[in-house]
Amino acid sequence: MDGQSRAEMTEFYSGLLKTHGPTKEAIAYSNEKQQATRYALMADIGPMGRESSVLDVGCGLGHFCEYLRGHGWGGKYLGVDINPEMVQAAQERLGGEGFVCGDILSEDFDHKSDYVFCGATIQHRPKHGDPQEYLEQMVKKMFELTNVGVAFDIFSDREITFRREHHLYVDPLELLAFCYELTGRVVLRNDCRPYELMVYLFKDENRDDLNIYSSWTSRTPQFI
Ligand SMILES: C[S@@+](CC[C@H](N)C(=O)[O-])C[C@H]1O[C@@H](n2cnc3c(N)ncnc32)[C@H](O)[C@@H]1O
Repeated sequence: MDGQSRAEMTEFYSGLLKTHGPTKEAIAYSNEKQQATRYALMADIGPMGRESSVLDVGCGLGHFCEYLRGHGWGGKYLGVDINPEMVQAAQERLGGEGFVCGDILSEDFDHKSDYVFCGATIQHRPKHGDPQEYLEQMVKKMFELTNVGVAFDIFSDREITFRREHHLYVDPLELLAFCYELTGRVVLRNDCRPYELMVYLFKDENRDDLNIYSSWTSRTPQFI
């Protein structure tokens, strides 16, 4: 992200933090269900190893780390955020976890993890430069940083009843085409909220003799 957009985005979230303190409102969640739903969608990337490592891009106050811990995950967590005040507040909330202030797009950011998550972050449109280019750079870098898979959300431009000036809206089919340039194993979900896309990108494209991806796992059917 260019320096000016970064400064403005930092100012935006620092303003929320100042107004609301280290709460969900400071990371722009208006209610708990909305927040928990996003985290559940991200964690639904697949059955994650209990000890797998996680990089949380745009970690904010570390709520997603708490969500994973609360569900029994015991692996190594690193949250990265461009906003130093967010990082400091996250460290104060969750002292034992890892948080760094930084930009994953910088060349020296090379921290690889099994899973890379990015919730409610790349949907925030940088005010300057080409937002599409920024989005693609972020997704590409996240895919470079994962050993297993990436999960991120973004707003769809198909739903026009919900629009905010500072959000980025994408054509789901264009996004999908871009994702296929990175990997053949892609999931694009639009099954939770009409304007919210959740994307999973998987690294391992090895297949068995039936052409089934070797690391694919079936889910037990659920009947309600
Ligand atoms: C809406 S909050 C979401 C926080 C967290 N992901 C969650 O869902 O609980 C967005 C956070 O992403 C950070 N952010 C925005 N763009 C970023 C980028 N390119 N790299 C790292 N952090 C970024 C902001 O500073 C802010 O703390």
